Amino acid sequence: MNLVFLGPPGAGKGTQAKKLLEEFGMPQISTGDILRDAVRRGTDLGKKARPLMEAGKLVPDDLVVGIAMEHLRQIDPAQGFILDGFPRTIPQAVALDSALKKSGQKIDAAISLRVPEETLVERLSGRRSCPKDGSVYHVPQNPSKREGHCDQCGSILLQREDDKPEKVRERLAVYARQTAPLEAYYDKQGLLRVINGVGSPEDIYAQIKKILVRS
Ligand code: AP5
Repeated sequence: MNLVFLGPPGAGKGTQAKKLLEEFGMPQISTGDILRDAVRRGTDLGKKARPLMEAGKLVPDDLVVGIAMEHLRQIDPAQGFILDGFPRTIPQAVALDSALKKSGQKIDAAISLRVPEETLVERLSGRRSCPKDGSVYHVPQNPSKREGHCDQCGSILLQREDDKPEKVRERLAVYARQTAPLEAYYDKQGLLRVINGVGSPEDIYAQIKKILVRS
């Protein structure tokens, strides 16, 4: 299946995409992870994206569409895929549909995780990530075994620059303005599936699997 994960910052898109990857081997394309890697490596893309990401704003459509398509082309269509954080604007969704159509593919479901704003702020302020292997933790809800260090590789865990409170507010406003309209876009195509994103990650994953069986 080809899936899009929708939902505001902190809704749990990355957490759930990783579960599908672990159980079914479905490749995940996270434009946020790709951009953060470009920033770390100091590439041209990273240099352009960095100030926008740190300010909680979106990276321009032409840059993001290019990198998302490049990653999609590397996936065997038989495997399916999960798009996490892409598309994020109507022009990105239109470009995605048109590229998939050309290769005889389509999106099968757009899963939207709904989470109240105060829970999002609390999740993002407690998120800690491993800069080396991308593992994600939460203080205090899902802490690493050794405080401040990654369970997998021992690296020092970091707080994302854009998870600081003033940046989170901007990201939520950007989501409401530019990304929330995608729900209507996919609803018109009969593809939108809305899930309550509050509860344990395991409960939410169980809801997602029910949707996949029905779609
Ligand atoms: P991106 O990295 O995509 O960030 P985001 O969409 O803001 O999403 P997050 O990664 O913050 O949240 P998530 O929903 O994945 O939650 P997670 O599972 O980590 O984008 C970053 C930036 O890159 C953007 O602002 C933009 O600048 C740029 N960008 C990226 N894509 C772009 C695009 N297409 N166009 C333009 N610009 C783009 O969970 C969050 C925390 O909550 C974790 O600590 C986790 O452990 C915890 N948690 C998860 N689920 C639960 C649960 N059920 N209960 C309790 N805690 C939970």
